Amino acid sequence: MDDSGKGRLPPGFRKLDLAGRRDAVRSAFFIPDDEWAGTSAAPETLELLDVMVETTVGCVPLPLGIAQGFLIDDKDVLIPMAVEEPSIITAASYAAHLVREDDGFRTWASDPLMTAQVFLESVTAQGEQALRECETELRQALAGPLASLSRRGGGYRSFLVARLPSRTVRLDLLIDVRDALGANRLNTAAESVCPLLERVSGGRALMAILTNAAAQRLAGARFSIPVERLKRDLPAGMSCQEAARRIAAASVVAQEDPSRAVTHNKGIMNGIASLALATMNDTRAVEAAAHLWAARDGNYRGLSRYSTDGMSLAGEIELPLPLASVGGSVDFHPAGRASLRILGSPDARRLSRIAAALGLAQNFAAVLALVTHGIQKGHMKYHAARLAYRAGARGTEVRRLAEMLAPPGSMDLASAHALLERLRGKLSR
Ligand code: MEV
Repeated sequence: MDDSGKGRLPPGFRKLDLAGRRDAVRSAFFIPDDEWAGTSAAPETLELLDVMVETTVGCVPLPLGIAQGFLIDDKDVLIPMAVEEPSIITAASYAAHLVREDDGFRTWASDPLMTAQVFLESVTAQGEQALRECETELRQALAGPLASLSRRGGGYRSFLVARLPSRTVRLDLLIDVRDALGANRLNTAAESVCPLLERVSGGRALMAILTNAAAQRLAGARFSIPVERLKRDLPAGMSCQEAARRIAAASVVAQEDPSRAVTHNKGIMNGIASLALATMNDTRAVEAAAHLWAARDGNYRGLSRYSTDGMSLAGEIELPLPLASVGGSVDFHPAGRASLRILGSPDARRLSRIAAALGLAQNFAAVLALVTHGIQKGHMKYHAARLAYRAGARGTEVRRLAEMLAPPGSMDLASAHALLERLRGKLSR
């Protein structure tokens, strides 16, 4: 920041219209053309984004790719993934192709149950007992706020009361949200019963909000393949049995060592979060639920497990997957709608099942690479493409220069510039 006002936004910035805010940011930070282009989109897209959040000044375009090869519960599925990290989509597709030859992924999902919570202070033991006995009134109070959910087969399911160490009393409302994430609905329901709960318990409501634990909105996936499937790409001298054993051993490490488990789970979320983002779901809600689940017995553990009997390799995953197919930004943002269309217009439970299969595939590909060739072999190819682009290659030059950069020792910008000149020289001859 300096005295000229550069590096500072003008007073009233928030109240400016979209074009005004964009101009203000651009000139305050001297943003060059190429960087500014990276925050831009078609006027109608920017107009939509302006409605979505406050102080919109542009967008951050991410690649939207398609993972192929998935056979999930006997159906072929193409999976849209929005992600900035290279090799994730290719890795998921690679694992999907390995698994599809043997029945693909089998998946399951619970009912879409979410929990809204009310925290009450100054509740006596008598008041707590009265809360436990207030279900009829609670149901009546929730009938209005949950009417549209009930019409669609969802709505209130049950409640429970717990006393926390701080003496605060927590009341959980279990609600079936059908195809929605349900955040607004849950929060409205929880807030609407506060006066009733205060009256019944004699206490005071401290706050009312859903919990992102989503521990009753689970989905899972499993696969089993003959170990011979692994033979496609193993280091010289490594048998398929040994590769399968090493995968199972790596999954044991992820169960016993949190510092490995968090990376193992990051690999799983590479897939799940990319699908969540492509469908405009709330990626933070999905991540929060997954990591709490990973630590549910008090130790943070890997979310997937692998086992082998020497003949076959089996993989399995189960975790909370609060993904919606309607509501929120999912069907508001056209990219979310397009992604759902590519997925075959799944309902929320099917979407969660697809996400579980994708998370398992992503993890399988990563662990397979880690215990065989190592992860860097696959990554360097993408690094070479970015380096080629940075050096100025465009169009078909990018791929050609990336191939020329592949030999070890050529992966720096100076080499990329030199090779690009050589490539252009050859092309112009
Ligand atoms: C990188 O984005 C993800 C991995 O680190 C996952 C893992 O280590 O299992 C490769």
